[in-house]
Amino acid sequence: GEIKREGFANKIGAIAAIAGSAIGLGNIWRFPYMAGSNGGGAFLFVYLICIAILGFSVMMAEFILGRAAQRNVVGAYGKFGNKNWKIVGYIANITGFVLLSFYGIIGGWALKYIYLSITNSFSGKTSTQLGAIFSSFIGKGMQPLFWYILFMALTAIIILSGVQKGIEKASEIMMPLLFGIIIILAVRALFLPGAKEGLKFLFAVDFSKITGKVILSALGHSFFTLSLGMGTMVIYGSYIKEKTKLENVALQVIIADTLVAILAGIVIFPAIFTFGINPAGGPGLAFITLPNVFLKITGGYFIAILFFALLSIAALTSSISILEVLVAYFVEEKNIDRKKATIVTTIVMIMVGIPASLSLNPSRHLIFGGKSIFDWFDFFTGTLMLPVGGLFVSIFVGWFLDKNIIKKELKDNQLLMKFLSFTLKFIAPITVFIVLINGLGIIK
Ligand code: PHE
Ligand code: NA
Repeated sequence: GEIKREGFANKIGAIAAIAGSAIGLGNIWRFPYMAGSNGGGAFLFVYLICIAILGFSVMMAEFILGRAAQRNVVGAYGKFGNKNWKIVGYIANITGFVLLSFYGIIGGWALKYIYLSITNSFSGKTSTQLGAIFSSFIGKGMQPLFWYILFMALTAIIILSGVQKGIEKASEIMMPLLFGIIIILAVRALFLPGAKEGLKFLFAVDFSKITGKVILSALGHSFFTLSLGMGTMVIYGSYIKEKTKLENVALQVIIADTLVAILAGIVIFPAIFTFGINPAGGPGLAFITLPNVFLKITGGYFIAILFFALLSIAALTSSISILEVLVAYFVEEKNIDRKKATIVTTIVMIMVGIPASLSLNPSRHLIFGGKSIFDWFDFFTGTLMLPVGGLFVSIFVGWFLDKNIIKKELKDNQLLMKFLSFTLKFIAPITVFIVLINGLGIIK
């Protein structure tokens, strides 16, 4: 007999957990850094189009697949498709390994920054000094590895203690808090001297800046930010109660995620132009600009601690959703117990991340084709593999999955069925395919 599967307790819990997966480092760390190095408003423009047209449809496809199958991504493809489709599931798992290892590295930075905030290490520093603190820390070797392993251990502990009580409860409390803090910061950033220039950079669309690379990056990031293309929304979808309307969950999660990204941009870009930081400065952007803002704010000492604590939690509610994809696979497909699956996966994951973390010190020569291993991991997952996964899930649900299954999961909502059938059959596959083909020729 089948063991009764766990599931989210109710709709609010489901939304909190799924928004918890979506809202993370992607919004606060990766979005500003991607926008900054891809033309600001031009990036935002393409990104919003990708989210509106593809994000909703692909999220729905993953929810439908997961809830109908009551399985992890490999099992779900295996249940409704042939052996070849299972390969797509395996690719998703591999993507998960790479993604979580690099996600965990940045999660470690967030933890370190809680520590730096508590020890008041930003006080009296210029923005150049704050930049130096960041680059010397990430290049150190053992230090960032320590924080990375700590972050991965925390991720594993939450997964070990069972998904629902941990994730659902923590997300319900933490996500609103994160919203509150980021709104306070955004309002304060609007009064910085560089606010006008920063907002102009973020919102003014210079169409001449929309290149193949910008489109590929924006497409990749729209999948990254919504946790799409690697089975996360398949497994979380499988935990959504039968009676909950999937489209309501998807819409609310997407709106919340987009809001947090834009708010993060409203905090970071005014600060960038106020303190003369290069917007194309790369992965350090949030970690260098935010402490600058905290220094300007009354109570900034406490806000910094609170902010990095919440950032770490936002990162954790996302990293657990990546680990869950893999653990659910080992539990459901390989009959390995949850504890063993979690521990082994986490250890392998840590190993995969070590070279990526070490590559952040240029003197270690872990640079290939102009990118560090860290940047390659970021590019491989966030720009390349998530759209590929999204492409396949669209094709599978659009063309191959039995219509009666879709009908049942959508509770016979005819309009929604027509809409999704059009976007999943044609729009999503064609767009993603064209963007990938073009983008790959351009990326250097
Ligand atoms: N959506 C998460 C974020 O924005 C990252 C993520 C990607 C999580 C893919 C799970 C799967 O931070
Ligand atoms: Na996100």
